[in-house]
Amino acid sequence: MDKLSELLLKAKELVNNAKSEKEVEEARLNFLGKSGEVSKLLRGMKDIVPEERPAFGKKVNDIKNSIEALISDKKSAFTLSNAKKLLAKEKIDVTLPGRGVKNGALHPLTQAYLEIRDIFMNMGFDVFEGPEIEYEKYNFDMLNIPPDHPARDTQDTFYISDGILLRTQTSPVQIRTMLDNKPPIRMICPGRVYRSDDVDATHSPVFNQVEGLVVDKGISFANLKATIDLFLKELYGESTKTKFRPGFFPFTEPSAEVDATCTLCHGKGCSACRGAGIVEILGCGMVHPKVLENCGIDSSVYSGFAFGLGLDRIANIKYGITDIRLLYENDVRFLEQFK
Ligand code: DAH
Repeated sequence: MDKLSELLLKAKELVNNAKSEKEVEEARLNFLGKSGEVSKLLRGMKDIVPEERPAFGKKVNDIKNSIEALISDKKSAFTLSNAKKLLAKEKIDVTLPGRGVKNGALHPLTQAYLEIRDIFMNMGFDVFEGPEIEYEKYNFDMLNIPPDHPARDTQDTFYISDGILLRTQTSPVQIRTMLDNKPPIRMICPGRVYRSDDVDATHSPVFNQVEGLVVDKGISFANLKATIDLFLKELYGESTKTKFRPGFFPFTEPSAEVDATCTLCHGKGCSACRGAGIVEILGCGMVHPKVLENCGIDSSVYSGFAFGLGLDRIANIKYGITDIRLLYENDVRFLEQFK
């Protein structure tokens, strides 16, 4: 019986002095574990005279319960103090001013494209897209640019393999559209195009075009002029004047190049337009009958017009950007200005 009381005292001391949950657990095993002190005592019961056994058994059980309570209290105390420590560590000062979220913005090229897209969508145009890796056939041959045609020299091409290239213009999307759709067709197609050009302020091996195509019965040059005129007035303002000059593209006949009043100086002449008061905006023309026929469209029934513009140029003029490289370097200090 004395040994039992001693055991309880020993347990109290060990548990109370435990410095961690691990030490409490060690104490538990030491006293209550399978080969712990209490189990040893119970196993020793057989050596006790039978009449004293019940009293002894009861005492051992009491001690066992007391130790269990001790341990459970100590464990709870550790859990609480750990939680308190964690709370203290994770404490946040809600009175501190918040860190603002920085909103992103659309890239100037995207902004310029969306504006152009909306103007054409309001005129009933659909939007089509085509692959950047394109068949030479679609990029050149079917657009009436045979292999020996000098127009190929002006579009220095990245070839991927025989007959496959990085498109040098968005015009192959016209071919794809006409192969897949019957007239009437009224569409624009935006996209990246590639040419093996050295990088400088006005050249980039990758740039963006927006192309347009209309094919229907009775489409004339007058429709082309009216459409382009309206587009440029919507884009640059009511007072914008357009000028059609004769031009040449193998896939259109007749062809024209279109100038518009410079938006920066409104026609007075400035550095952006090199004193001309006008800037060249796009190329266009009546779709060459051969191109229609290449796509299975009867050129004695249908006619069409097409146009192509450089999106980078339009964005540069719109925002007064003088170096095309800025559009591709993605310097945040530059991009941030287009919010
Ligand atoms: N694809 C021409 C180029 O990259 C631009 C162009 C001119 C497209 C006239 C057209 C067009 O559809 O009719 O230089």
